[in-house]
Amino acid sequence: MSKRTRKEIKAGVVGYGGAFNMGRRHLEEMRAAGMIPAAVAEIDPDRLREADKDFPGIGLYSDVAGMLKDSDVDLVTLITPHNTHAPIALQCIKAGRHVVSEKPLAITTADCDRMIAQARKSGVVLSTYHNRHWDGCIRQAVKKIRAGAIGEVVRIQGRMGAWGKPHDWWRSSKSVSGGILYDWGVHLLEYSLQLIDSEITEVAGFAKTGFWAPQTAWKDDTNEDEGFAVVRFASGQWLTLCVTALDANPKPGRMEVTGTRGTYVFEHTTWELITPQSKDVVIRKGKNPPDESRRYYENIVAHLQGNTPLAITPEWARRPIHILDLADRSARQNRSLKAKYG
Ligand SMILES: NC(=O)c1ccc[n+]([C@@H]2O[C@H](COP(=O)([O-])OP(=O)(O)OC[C@H]3O[C@@H](n4cnc5c(N)ncnc54)[C@H](O)[C@@H]3O)[C@@H](O)[C@H]2O)c1
Repeated sequence: MSKRTRKEIKAGVVGYGGAFNMGRRHLEEMRAAGMIPAAVAEIDPDRLREADKDFPGIGLYSDVAGMLKDSDVDLVTLITPHNTHAPIALQCIKAGRHVVSEKPLAITTADCDRMIAQARKSGVVLSTYHNRHWDGCIRQAVKKIRAGAIGEVVRIQGRMGAWGKPHDWWRSSKSVSGGILYDWGVHLLEYSLQLIDSEITEVAGFAKTGFWAPQTAWKDDTNEDEGFAVVRFASGQWLTLCVTALDANPKPGRMEVTGTRGTYVFEHTTWELITPQSKDVVIRKGKNPPDESRRYYENIVAHLQGNTPLAITPEWARRPIHILDLADRSARQNRSLKAKYG
């Protein structure tokens, strides 16, 4: 992927949604990294008006085709619902624009492969906004665990959720979101893959459906009540991922890493290191350093303007999607599935 330029990078976003004001956040981070916010494409006219207020004079477009035709943006970031990432990315890549997709890169492995192949063919950069790659909690975990704090990593458990009806938004629709594992699950997997450096060999997926569906607007197209995956690696390590709307007794701690000489538990702001010593255990606790998500676009700019390697390659972003895709198909087929490559 070699379409590099030292000129200033004009940036556009597709989607300027109100749920978390992510469009504004992206354009601010892009500007802080040295890009020029140049265009917003958004199908909701109210949200386009918000973009105009936040970035006066920015190019406003009611669809992606208009933005690609009438603006000279070099890079487009997609901040739209999950099922739109693949088709919009392909549209932008074919128009010769570098593309950053919000997580997840896509819903299926096949879509990831199509996007990666098209980016290579068009000579543009494709990446996923894995801002949480630079979360303080995972940077601290990587530092401690690589320094040997728990010996050899045996397994990782990632979990999220509680008991409650899914919200009335697109994230609760299976066909739009990909399923309950796709929103936070992709972050937890991206954390985990920084701690297990091995090929994915097999995934077993489990899903409970139908409990919340009758009470939601999405009915049969509602996300699973709970999604669960067990991932086996070539190294012999494994990880489990659970995202649930059924846990009346949710455990604290999003990630638990078990090693031969101790267990490391972390959530966003704090960590705990539990190590056995003679007949007792020693528990050390600490606060995680601040998140550094600004490093995502700093890397994109350095990559586009020089020889800095891309931190979040599309192949890296494909890895959690391959797990999620296999977990989904495995749950439906009621058997574990081999990874194609991992
Ligand atoms: N990395 C993170 O920490 C983080 C945080 C929040 C959201 N996200 C991701 O950002 C993406 C968007 O989530 P959100 O919370 O901003 O959702 P949202 O519903 O607030 O915004 C989505 C926007 O996309 C617009 N849209 C939909 N289809 C479009 C199209 N074809 N062309 C132009 N605009 C279109 C909608 O009108 C809406 O305004 C998702 O992939 C989500 O997972 C990531």
